[in-house]
Amino acid sequence: MLVHVPNVLTAEEVVYCRNKLTESEWVDGKVTAGQQSAKAKYNLQIPHESELSKELGEIVLRALGRNPTFTSAALPLRVFPPLFNRYDAGMEFRAHVDNAIRPLPGTGFRIRTDVSSTLFLSEPEDYDGGELIIEDTYGAHEVKLPAGDLILYPATSLHSVAPVTRGSRWASFFWSQSMVKSDTQRTLLYNFDQSIIEIRKLLPDDHSAVLGLTATYHNLVREWAEI
Ligand code: NI
Repeated sequence: MLVHVPNVLTAEEVVYCRNKLTESEWVDGKVTAGQQSAKAKYNLQIPHESELSKELGEIVLRALGRNPTFTSAALPLRVFPPLFNRYDAGMEFRAHVDNAIRPLPGTGFRIRTDVSSTLFLSEPEDYDGGELIIEDTYGAHEVKLPAGDLILYPATSLHSVAPVTRGSRWASFFWSQSMVKSDTQRTLLYNFDQSIIEIRKLLPDDHSAVLGLTATYHNLVREWAEI
């Protein structure tokens, strides 16, 4: 399931992040790539252990915490500290699948990467190319969103970033371990939750149908979640 989450960051937060990133040092993005993907990856990243990466990562994590759509779609158990990357003209990331297990820096814990997220920090008109291309059973989807918007997709997907041919594409990206590992089950729960939100606009909260659907949603989460 691909979910577009608009306005994860406010316009002010985007400007703040971009200003900070402008002043930062950037290193070769191969530092966080696996063996196969390192050969496919040509971009730049902010060093993950840097103070700036932690500060901006906190801004992203706070924004996710206040976003009900992200929570509903990802059902996150743990979120990897966000990384920040950039593709200048000529840079790309060819088709790959992200590593399944990642150590959580500085904790001794690892996470299983169930859900991948890309949070755009450049406006689409500021660069050409640079589409995030995600392949699923329905074919390839090209994604290019306004700054502050996020796309969430199953980490099992083959994906790539098309070559940038003009300008520079900046983004934050990270993985979540979901309480619900299966994309099929997560998709059912997300669609269910969205339908409950719709029906609550039409019926009072104490209506027996609202009550029953809400109870069933929570009981399905209880059945499927691993924490
Ligand atoms: Ni990737």
